[in-house]
Amino acid sequence: MNFISVVVFSIVIHGSWSEEQLKFPPSFMFGAASAAYQVEGGWNVSDKGLSMWDKILHDRPELVANRNNGDVACDSYHLWRRDIEMCEELGLNMYRFSISWSRLLPSGFPNHISEDGKNYYNNLIDGLLEKGIQPLVTMNHFDLPMSLQDLGGWANPLIADWFADYAEVVFSLYADRVKYWLTINEAYIQCDGGYHMEAAPFFEDMKLGRYLCNKNVLIAHAKAYRIYDEQYRYKYHGKVSLSTLFFWFKPFTPEDQEVTDLTIEHWEGRYAHAIFSKEGGWPRKLEKLLNDNAKKEGYWHPRLPPFTPEEIELVRGTYDFYALNHYTTRLVRRVNPGEPPGKWFFEGSDELNTVMFKDPSWPSTPVYWFSVYPPGLREQLNWLNATYDVKEIIITENGVPSLDPGLVDTQRLEYYRDYLEQVLLAINDGVNVTGYTAWTLMDNFEWLSGYIAKFGLYAVDFSDPNRTRTPRESARYYSSVIRSRMIHPPQDKTKLNYV
Ligand code: BGC
Repeated sequence: MNFISVVVFSIVIHGSWSEEQLKFPPSFMFGAASAAYQVEGGWNVSDKGLSMWDKILHDRPELVANRNNGDVACDSYHLWRRDIEMCEELGLNMYRFSISWSRLLPSGFPNHISEDGKNYYNNLIDGLLEKGIQPLVTMNHFDLPMSLQDLGGWANPLIADWFADYAEVVFSLYADRVKYWLTINEAYIQCDGGYHMEAAPFFEDMKLGRYLCNKNVLIAHAKAYRIYDEQYRYKYHGKVSLSTLFFWFKPFTPEDQEVTDLTIEHWEGRYAHAIFSKEGGWPRKLEKLLNDNAKKEGYWHPRLPPFTPEEIELVRGTYDFYALNHYTTRLVRRVNPGEPPGKWFFEGSDELNTVMFKDPSWPSTPVYWFSVYPPGLREQLNWLNATYDVKEIIITENGVPSLDPGLVDTQRLEYYRDYLEQVLLAINDGVNVTGYTAWTLMDNFEWLSGYIAKFGLYAVDFSDPNRTRTPRESARYYSSVIRSRMIHPPQDKTKLNYV
C-alpha cells in the first residue's frame, strides 16, 4: 500500500471522505454495455447469416432455460433509436456494443458485405456520436458465424486469418468514427466455456479444444491489432484491446496462496500474459504444470500449444489499454486428501487440484454463482497494475443479476455504489482506471439463463411486442453518479444522490 492508499484506507475506515476523494477524475468515462446476440434480435432479417448461437439454439432449444433464444431479444435491431435515447437519459459518456459478424459478413468471409448490416451499425454509431456518446465496439461477443464453426471454429488455427479479414472490414467501415475497440469478448468464456458446455459451440473437450481455442484467440486478436496499428492508427488515433474476464481469487488460508496464484494464471494469465507481460508467451509456471499433466495422462503433445518465437513477438504488446470484465470473487484452496477437485469451472479445477467457493460472509444474490465482495475489484485492479505493464484500464463489464423483473432493485443500486467506491479507491492507489461500463444497459438474453436472470439498468418487458424499456432505481442512481461525477460517502445508505 502506498502513502495515498493508506490515507484513503483510513478515511474509509473512519467514514469521513472529503468531497474531492468521492469524485471521479473529470476525464473518467462512464458507460453501459450490451452485446449483439443478447439484444439485437432480427436473426434472419435481410441477408444476415446464422451465428452459432442462432443455429445451435434452433436445433437444441433445451440448452437454455425456458427454451429461450435471441431471435427477437430486445429487438434492438429495430429499436436502436430508443437504445441511444436511454444512453442519453443516463448521461453516458460511452456505450459498449458488439457487431454481429454474420450480420455484416453473411458468409463469415468478406466476399460479400451486407448493406443492411453495414447501415445498421453506421446508424448506431452516428446516432451515439450525435449525442456526444463514444461508441466502444466489440468485434466478436461469442456469436461466431455458424459457417466458420462448421469449419472448426476457434479450434482451427485458420480462424486467426478469418478474424483478421473480418477486422479489416470492420476497421475500414467504422474506424473513422470509433476510437475504442475490443477484438474479442471474454476469451475465457468463449474457450473454457465453449468447450465445457457453457457456451456455443457447446462441446465438452477440456483437454484439447479449450487450449487450441485459447491460442487461436490470442493470434486472432494480435493479427487484428496489427492491422489497426499499421493501417489506421496514424489516421484515427484510436485504441484497441481485448476484454478479459476474471473473477478475483483469494486464498482460503495463507498456505493456499501458491495455488491461488496458479488459479489467477489459469483464468487470466492464459489470456493476458502473452499480450500484456513483458516476456510474452504462456505464463511459465502454469505452462509447465499443464504440460506435465498432459504427459502424465499419456498425451504426446503439450497441453498448451507452443508459440513459435515469431508468434510470441506477434502477440506481445498488442494492446492500448486493459479491458477488464469483473463480477465476483472466489476463495481457493487445494483439495484435501481423497477429496475430488471442483467439477464445474467456477468450483475448482482438476488441472490444479483445487476447490473454489464463496465466503459465507459475502452477501449472496439469487444467482447461485454470484456473491458480492466489492473489495475484490480494488484488489484485482491493483494486481493487474503490479503484474502487467498497463498504462490504462477500462472496466468493460461490472454488474449484478437479479430474478425480479421489478423496478426497485436495491441490491443492484448498492452493488454499483459499492463497486464504484472500490474503483475510486483503486484510482487513489495509483491505478489509472479511465472508464467503467456497467453491465448492462437493459435486461437481455442472458445466455443459458435465457430471460430469467436480469442485469439491466432498464427493465425490458419481453411480453410486449414493443419490448418497452423502463428505468430501474439503479438507472436513476447511476445517472446521478454520472452527472455529479461522485458517489456518496460509504456506509451512508440513507443519502443516495438521486437526481
Ligand atoms: C458476458 C456477458 C454476460 C455477463 C453476465 C459476461 O460474461 O460478457 O455477455 O451477459 O457476463 O453473465
